[in-house]
Amino acid sequence: MCGIVGYIGERQAQQVLLRGLEKLEYRGYDSAGIAVFDGGAIRVKKRLGRLVNLEETLNGHGLAGTVGIGHTRWATHGRPSDVNAHPHGDCSGRFAVVHNGIIENYLKLREELQAAGHRFRSETDTEVVAHLIESLYDGNLLRTVLRAVSTLRGAFALVVMSADEPGRLVAVRKHSPLVIGLGDGENFIASDIPALLSYTRRVYVLEEGEAADVTADRVICCRLDGTPVEKDVLRITWDVRAAEKGGYDHFMLKEIYEQPKAVADTLTGRLSDDNRAVLPELGWDAEQALKVDRIHIVACGTAYHAGMVGRQILEKLTRIPVEVEVASEYRYRDPIYTDHTLVVVISQSGETADTLAALREAKARGAQVMAITNVVGSSVAREADHVVITWAGPEIAVASTKAYTTQLVVLYLFACYLAQLRGTAEPTVIDEVLAGLRDLPDAVSQVLDTAPAMKAFAQKFAWKESAFFIGRGLDYVAALEGALKLKEISYIHAEAYAAGELKHGTLALITEGVPVIALATQDHLYEKTVSNMKEIKARDAHVLALTWAGDEEMASVADEVLYLPRISSWLAPAVVAVPLQLLAYYAAMERGNDVDKPRNLAKSVTVE
Ligand code: G6P
Repeated sequence: MCGIVGYIGERQAQQVLLRGLEKLEYRGYDSAGIAVFDGGAIRVKKRLGRLVNLEETLNGHGLAGTVGIGHTRWATHGRPSDVNAHPHGDCSGRFAVVHNGIIENYLKLREELQAAGHRFRSETDTEVVAHLIESLYDGNLLRTVLRAVSTLRGAFALVVMSADEPGRLVAVRKHSPLVIGLGDGENFIASDIPALLSYTRRVYVLEEGEAADVTADRVICCRLDGTPVEKDVLRITWDVRAAEKGGYDHFMLKEIYEQPKAVADTLTGRLSDDNRAVLPELGWDAEQALKVDRIHIVACGTAYHAGMVGRQILEKLTRIPVEVEVASEYRYRDPIYTDHTLVVVISQSGETADTLAALREAKARGAQVMAITNVVGSSVAREADHVVITWAGPEIAVASTKAYTTQLVVLYLFACYLAQLRGTAEPTVIDEVLAGLRDLPDAVSQVLDTAPAMKAFAQKFAWKESAFFIGRGLDYVAALEGALKLKEISYIHAEAYAAGELKHGTLALITEGVPVIALATQDHLYEKTVSNMKEIKARDAHVLALTWAGDEEMASVADEVLYLPRISSWLAPAVVAVPLQLLAYYAAMERGNDVDKPRNLAKSVTVE
């Protein structure tokens, strides 16, 4: 997964491209490059490492010209290096290509092109495209690109420029996102909207299997077979600053602090005065709700943990059997569907390759698919039968925070909505969950006050080799998410265990001073969790407990206690998430890590 930008107009392309790439670094950041047409030829500069390396290289040696393409890379084929960075060119230097995704048949094509005399410089699959276009070029870049694409297998997005037709950029979308920004006498191309927001709020979102022929004055879209397509202009209403750091040191911290608003926004219009969950975008009736006899929840990473919470709430309230699985397993498992299985896919970006593939598999097998996503117009949103948006706003930091808490909100709402239509749950339980949802923005706001305590704890244990998170029931799921957050940004080895399972092996790892974060928010499991904590204390571990304000017993059990604003136990995962995010954030800061862009990871994983 990589970030692509393109510009054609009257401005100096280099500045536009670099500014756009800055906004796309979340998609990949192991190398970056730009190609600009200087009036005579295409000039290319690319560098290993962060975008700043490229910017330094261009300092004083910039590329002049008003047409160009740029790329920030997350390596798939070929290690990160100057040479493997994009844009890639053909033998003659007449074409330049940037690419996101994977060309699956690139080895065969490469052999054929090499046999025909083409000389390759890089180890990438992308370079094949440049040589293929060179070999097929017939004087019309659009026609040639479409012909080339018809021989490529895989999931990708491409933008191509040519020195023979410098007034034109050609963009192709095949399973990887691309948007075209519409300007006045200038046009833009990007993998994602934040890259365009400084210049325009009017965009075309390319659909699956569409191409765009872009000049400074017009954009013409077509299918990959050349059939013209009329596109609707999407007007972006986000605040530009919403996609920037707004005074915080890191996007992650900003996004953690945005959670009260994100949760409130996601609830807006979805709780009625007569205490019902309302999801107008679904508009189901009782008959439709009663038909559902199985639910499969499919997602990756943090969204998968949201799904695990969703399972417990949905089963409790609707009594429908729910399975939850990571998308990369689900898509190849040949799952069993009944005639009325509902598949719920959860994806912040709406572009995660495995989640999208799972969605397609489910649809191909006749299941109804509902998507919970944060990105309107994303692939997942467009392909699902039903869509519920999490109104978290753009999430830029690689580690997901506000997307997670808003995914939880949607899952709670959906469980109540289904249960109310089906008449399956005790009204008191639904009332408790709905009341908890109303309290949630405040509770999330109050729990942000734990930041100094979490910082102090993080500073103490940031250099430990490993940490354990334990809990039961919903606390176990919250523990899994807490451990993932800590791993991905602090690089501390962290494991989450169902508290009752520790003594079946893991207790052997609990020795003096090992940090254990124990979650004790589930009232009906409280005593059991406390017993497990005592087993741990008996091995001299250092225990930090997270429990509700008012718990008088915990101080005598744990070494340190963090008190949470009291809310229904059902909603606990959404509250507990916040201090655990802060813990990970401050541990990563203490270790000097790049919090927003942790090593080896990327925000949007659009490859398998
Ligand atoms: C990446 C991100 C995670 C995210 C996961 C799923 O691994 O680093 O934070 O949870 O992808 O992403 P999605 O956009 O589908 O929710």
